[in-house]
Amino acid sequence: MFRVLITDPLSEQGIEKLQEASDVEVVQKTNLTPAELLTEVAEADALIVRSQTQVTAEVIEAGSRLKAIGRAGVGVDNIDIPAATARGILVVNAPDGNTISTAEHTFAMLISLARNIPQGYKSTIQGEWKRKAFVGVELNNKKLGIVGLGRIGSELASRAQAFHMKVIAFDPYLTEERAKKMGVHKASLEEVIQEADFITVHTPLTKETRHLIDEAAFAKMKEGVRILNCARGGIISEQALYDAIQSGKVAGAALDVFETEPPGEHPLFTLPQVIATPHLGASTREAQENVAIDVSEEILHILRDEPFKNA
Ligand code: MLT
Repeated sequence: MFRVLITDPLSEQGIEKLQEASDVEVVQKTNLTPAELLTEVAEADALIVRSQTQVTAEVIEAGSRLKAIGRAGVGVDNIDIPAATARGILVVNAPDGNTISTAEHTFAMLISLARNIPQGYKSTIQGEWKRKAFVGVELNNKKLGIVGLGRIGSELASRAQAFHMKVIAFDPYLTEERAKKMGVHKASLEEVIQEADFITVHTPLTKETRHLIDEAAFAKMKEGVRILNCARGGIISEQALYDAIQSGKVAGAALDVFETEPPGEHPLFTLPQVIATPHLGASTREAQENVAIDVSEEILHILRDEPFKNA
């Protein structure tokens, strides 16, 4: 029997997939302390997490039987991949299942940001009627700069085009041909930073992308630019963003992710130009079902020495 340990909330459909397997014992234990996690992982053949569980080198070391670690979602920045690789443990994710949900959430944030919807809601339910305070901007004819035109960035681009935005994108893997097919202008990072009215990032968080948008980048942006991050906290420097809003360079920011999560009483939340959600990009029924099923199937394949896709 293979023991599969699940340490973050996982959609029922994924758990059922594993429970239906006659060669698998499923152990679901969420909110473990670091010490409890070390004890539990020692007995597991596979570990499934979302973003809360920090799969450190110490956890990997304790998992002496581990063959695979599955991430129900895209980002694997909470897993120490070099440590896993050194021990021959496969790390698999579920890269497709939450694409649409995350693109839709980013688009919802884009409209909310342009039209001050969260600020207007808060004020109205407090009994105020401030029509002049919340004058927004149209998306029509504005330039949306997308940094990272992968799955989510591409889905966002087509939604923005439906609202008649001009999309320019920086992505080192984007070919002229694909950009043309998508009706997107292939640009350098510099161009996106200098020309866009709205800038949204859709890259993973890596050594290269940490603080990709920093003080120097903000200095080159258009006056009144609006910024979105529904990808990973840390791609945009929060301190630099705070300063750029304070100076008037940035007119507003929509954030779904933070350098530390949960962010607590963050200085950015003292600024009325900032709207925020608690990492909800992939939080739809559909996305959670998709990623849970995908990652469970991958884990079963690995445990059974069958072909798998997303390591
Ligand atoms: C992801 O990386 O898949 C998303 O950020 C969603 C999540 O963390 O669960």
